Amino acid sequence: MQFLTKTANIIKSRSQCIVVGVYDDKSLTPSAKAIDVASKGYLKKVINRGDIEGKIGQSVMLLDVDGILSPRVLLVGLGKSDTADGPKFIKLAETVITVLKNVPAKNTLCCLLEASAGDKDLYWKTRRLVEQFVAGTYAYTDMRGTPPEDKLKLESIDLQVDTKDQKAAKLGIKHGSAVALGVAVAKDLGNTPANVCTPTYLAEQSKKIAKQYASVTTQVLDEKQMEKLGMGSFLSVGHGSIQPSKMIVMQHKGGKTKEAPHVLVGKGITFDTGGISLKPPGTMYEMIYDMCGAASVFGAMKTVAELNLPINVVVVIAAAENMPSDRATKPGDIVKSMSGQTIEILNTDAEGRLVLCDALTYVEKFKPATVIDVATLTGAVIVALGTQASAVYANDDALAADIDAAGNTTQDRVWRMPLWEEYQQQLNSSFADMSNIGGPAAGSVTAACFLARFTKKYRWAHLDVAGTAFRGGMSSKAATGRPVYLLTQYLLDRAAG
Ligand code: BES
Ligand code: MN
Ligand code: ZN
Repeated sequence: MQFLTKTANIIKSRSQCIVVGVYDDKSLTPSAKAIDVASKGYLKKVINRGDIEGKIGQSVMLLDVDGILSPRVLLVGLGKSDTADGPKFIKLAETVITVLKNVPAKNTLCCLLEASAGDKDLYWKTRRLVEQFVAGTYAYTDMRGTPPEDKLKLESIDLQVDTKDQKAAKLGIKHGSAVALGVAVAKDLGNTPANVCTPTYLAEQSKKIAKQYASVTTQVLDEKQMEKLGMGSFLSVGHGSIQPSKMIVMQHKGGKTKEAPHVLVGKGITFDTGGISLKPPGTMYEMIYDMCGAASVFGAMKTVAELNLPINVVVVIAAAENMPSDRATKPGDIVKSMSGQTIEILNTDAEGRLVLCDALTYVEKFKPATVIDVATLTGAVIVALGTQASAVYANDDALAADIDAAGNTTQDRVWRMPLWEEYQQQLNSSFADMSNIGGPAAGSVTAACFLARFTKKYRWAHLDVAGTAFRGGMSSKAATGRPVYLLTQYLLDRAAG
């Protein structure tokens, strides 16, 4: 979908649809007012008749309105102007795209930047409209044998702005389009079933993106190379699978050569059966999404490369398939990690931390400015925070604050959880330096505490996104694209200095 700024004369616009708004006190935005005047009070008439009250979520399509050249006016509710805020603006954008998707208009003139979003500025509103409009038309159709019948007619959306706002809006479109692209990449990778999306497939995708962007290089480490590095923990996870494990290292060089990179590490379990500690069958199919951490850092890389951000970014994906077999890790097996620390694997279903810990040791070599790992790590985080917030853990308060800020800006929010030393004892093992599980209490915390033992040499944060990166359900499962919004905002903030 294409986005352009426009400083159109609403009355004379030949756009196939014009979107304007009304607040719940019946007051009209400037463009709505212009149409109301041109149509001799038609909009007011519709509103006074009660066909639309101005609540967010409401809309009414007006056809062949007198006095204007466009055949359609979509009048949408904007809610209360004095309590407008970011989340309501996002809801508004969702409402609009849900309607527009089913309208046979190829182009639309959207005048909703006139709507208030509280303390959010025009750049933010523009970005959000673009991100929401693209997200609202996303569909994963690669696997359909019969092509979907209702093809999207909408090709371009013009955003009406004042001349003075054009620069900010253009930047919003640029950033919003790039973020939307990253989100779509993350959704596609997440939704791709595990018989296609294997570690090898992820590696191939990383080579594609390196070909596409001059700033991006990629290196794929195979099992032999990982063995040489001493990654006994990582490798133990893929042992049971016929699919070879891969560690994918992508680099975007946009900053000065010597500038310390921001490193993103993603859990890329392309399918998590639980291994010998087999998961129950009920919702096991959802475990195609156990590579959503990897998908999100991949998506963030896409956005970073697309914008050619003036910073250095390293993305590492720890990809493996967790399967039971005669070769699989058994509960009680003890492995040695790259850090030299040994791990007693009491439950083969706590595999994410096993691949991550070696990837986290590996990234020391980049002398990173910050490291953020992203993982669908525990079911326990869903119990703790549900589907609203991702859990964030950090060994650095300033980093936690930066991530929190990026989450609030994008509404892709996080909630900070403790990494207290007192939790560490839950990981005690009879024979090894640690166990890979911490018992039933505070499952997301002890998983993070496990990772903390491998991240002492740099500023580090961990995002547990098991509750936010995808939605479950037999016919409603879907990747959400989170936390790409958060990660890209974090990197945009770093690029802004
Ligand atoms: N991939 C799962 C976590 C998960 C569960 C993600 C549900 C998304 C939805 C992870 O590998 C796992 O199995 N964790 C175990 C850890 C336990 C064995 C300590 C869990 O959460 O049950
Ligand atoms: Mn598991
Ligand atoms: Zn898992």
